[in-house]
Order: sequence, then structure tokens, then C-alpha cells
Amino acid sequence: MGLVEEGQQIIAEGEKKEDAAADLALIGAAQRVEHYEISAYTTAKNLAQQLRHSAVVALLSKSLAEEENSDQLLNQVSRSLMSVARMPTALEQAE
Ligand SMILES: [Fe+2]
Repeated sequence: MGLVEEGQQIIAEGEKKEDAAADLALIGAAQRVEHYEISAYTTAKNLAQQLRHSAVVALLSKSLAEEENSDQLLNQVSRSLMSVARMPTALEQAE
């Protein structure tokens, strides 16, 4: 619920802006959800391994891999966005 609320707040704030920072904030919100899912699938997979439910382990491993792939794709998008976006000057360079 907290992640969804935070995402909705970032979407609402981003509607007022058209800069890369707003897009990066959205990507960050999406990645927080992916990390939450990765954590949950990892825990469930570990429990299934402990219980020796190999079919469940296989399914959870597949879901975990999909979430990790989504996170990597979001990383790629954010890095390419950062490379072309006008970023604020670093503090030590601004002085
Ligand atoms: Fe996901």
C-alpha cells in the first residue's frame, strides 16, 4: 500500500513537470516495487527449497528471474535517460 501511494504521489507530481527528473522519479518508484517483489519471491523460493517442493521452486525461480529482468530493464532506461538529460551541476563544481 505504501509503495502504491508513493507511486501515485510521484505520478501526480510528475504531471506538472516534463523534465527527465520526473521520469527518473517514476522509474525509481517502479524499481522499488520490483525490489519488493524480488524480496518476496526470494523468501518464498527459499522456503520452498527448504520444504523440497521442487515444482514450486521452479515456478518461483521463473517469477524471480522475470522481476530481476524488469529491474535491469528499468536500470537501462534510467541510465540512458541520465546520459542525455540535462542534470544539475555537481555541488563541488558549482562553488
Ligand atoms: Fe514486477
